Amino acid sequence: MAKRNKIALIGAGNIGGELAALVARRQLGDVVLFDIPAKADFARGKALDLMQNAAIEGFDANVVGTSDWKDCAGADVIIVTAGVPRKPGQSRDDLVGINLPIIENVARGAKEHCPDAFTIIISNPLDVMVWAFREVTGFDARKVVGMAGVLDSARLQHFLAAEAGVSHKDVRAMVLGGHGDDMVPARGYCTVNGVPVSELIAADKLDAIEKRTRGGGGEIVKLMGTSAYYAPATAAIEMAEAYLYDQKRLLPCAVRLTGQYGYDDLYLGVPVVIGGAGAEKIVEITLSDAEKAMLAKSAESVRGVVEVAKRLRAQASA
Ligand SMILES: NC(=O)c1ccc[n+]([C@@H]2O[C@H](COP(=O)([O-])OP(=O)(O)OC[C@H]3O[C@@H](n4cnc5c(N)ncnc54)[C@H](O)[C@@H]3O)[C@@H](O)[C@H]2O)c1
Repeated sequence: MAKRNKIALIGAGNIGGELAALVARRQLGDVVLFDIPAKADFARGKALDLMQNAAIEGFDANVVGTSDWKDCAGADVIIVTAGVPRKPGQSRDDLVGINLPIIENVARGAKEHCPDAFTIIISNPLDVMVWAFREVTGFDARKVVGMAGVLDSARLQHFLAAEAGVSHKDVRAMVLGGHGDDMVPARGYCTVNGVPVSELIAADKLDAIEKRTRGGGGEIVKLMGTSAYYAPATAAIEMAEAYLYDQKRLLPCAVRLTGQYGYDDLYLGVPVVIGGAGAEKIVEITLSDAEKAMLAKSAESVRGVVEVAKRLRAQASA
């Protein structure tokens, strides 16, 4: 008998709920919406709301809420949003002390119950949380990736489309590096249907758009008091679909570098082919000297927070 995919969403908050709705609507598989015991009823409530939505929308996916890892067993894909989001004035790196033990806890659950899943981490600080998840699970690094570049590129694409007065559909953009304020918009790879953006938008306007993209998450946190959830969820679903349908999409994702771009044992956002084997191929593109310098700064920031995480892990096990 053909079997449906099983998608375990770890964290049933703002992004988790939106992810569940997207998985159900796109019929990617059955959904397990997991949260801590204190939020189990909240997860069950969201699941029930979505199942009632099935009666209106006509999807067949089954959605359940739970706080029992056993319900996640055998998941094909796990998407992790467990943890706290930023509040106005906070940086993503400020979250490391709170979110690190949460990710370690999630990683232990995933290791025991979902050893074959393709895992997409969303929790912040992104590059460090995906590194920590891999450290604890020891999973094949091709099956553990972080979502940031697809979202940051979407933010850049939106601002470019608005400035150039063209359809979002025709704008392609690539944002690399860590998911922090020193991320790297790779201008040479941003086009409107193949036309370099520099031919359509003045350099000073592009500078301003790239600056706004770097602060794009913070802009929404300031407006809403919490972080974005619609575009982050859709970005992760794009990655999940690439894996489930073996699409071989070339997407900017946080992947473990083993020498590529000159970095070793570091999770950082770079272009990667996502297909049925996970992060199948890291693609090394030519960067300008300025972009290389920006990437080095971004990598240094990520490395700094990884060191903080290592110290916290050592203290906790002492
Ligand atoms: N990577 C990105 O581009 C990106 C974009 C936006 C937000 N984020 C991050 O995603 C995370 C989630 O954001 P949100 O808006 O959904 O937050 P939220 O507070 O709405 O939801 C988080 C959920 O995680 C749950 N949780 C806590 N500990 C858990 C555990 N051990 N196991 C399972 N669940 C647990 C909480 O109970 C809560 O329901 C935050 O860290 C945020 O900073 C990342």
